[in-house]
Amino acid sequence: MARLAGKVAVITGGGTGIGKKTALRFAQEGAKVVVTDINPDSANSTAEEIKNAGGAALAMAHDVSKEDEWQRIVSQTVEQYGKIDILFNNAGIYIIKPLAELTLEEWNRLMSINVTGVFLGMKHVMPVMAKQQAGSVINASSVAGLIGAPGHVL
Ligand SMILES: NC(=O)c1ccc[n+]([C@@H]2O[C@H](COP(=O)([O-])OP(=O)(O)OC[C@H]3O[C@@H](n4cnc5c(N)ncnc54)[C@H](O)[C@@H]3O)[C@@H](O)[C@H]2O)c1
Repeated sequence: MARLAGKVAVITGGGTGIGKKTALRFAQEGAKVVVTDINPDSANSTAEEIKNAGGAALAMAHDVSKEDEWQRIVSQTVEQYGKIDILFNNAGIYIIKPLAELTLEEWNRLMSINVTGVFLGMKHVMPVMAKQQAGSVINASSVAGLIGAPGHVL
């Protein structure tokens, strides 16, 4: 039996990598998937792959660091599918460099996506899940946060 039948999932950074694979798998398990990505072509391509395989998906252009874009993603998802059962805060970037060579702009950019983006996602999806009295949030992390490696200061 499909484990996510009837569920609605929002996956950020769903155009490539782990986000794309998760979107395809969630759809296989019966979820309707909202694929968001800063690169709209890649989000579209994931959504098309899901639809071609008989699943349901919606692609949306989305920069997770922008609050107004989160408001739009949440309202359009609820408008289209009526609810949000799963939020996967997957979008993230890496900057591999020695700390002394990192610029403040690079630091701020990474924080705005990897930290603020996750906060904004939870902040705007939580009221929908609270109203439903159900929902799951998955935040991507990394073993790089637990162990050191050369150049991995962020
Ligand atoms: N791949 C790994 O080995 C690994 C290990 C540990 C943690 N992670 C984490 O898992 C997540 C996915 O990693 P991945 O390897 O699949 O990365 P990836 O680079 O293949 O995919 C990330 C996706 O996020 C999108 N993205 C970038 N900035 C964005 C923004 N501001 N708003 C919305 N989308 C944006 C990109 O366009 C891309 O499609 C990341 O958060 C990453 O830090 C990955």
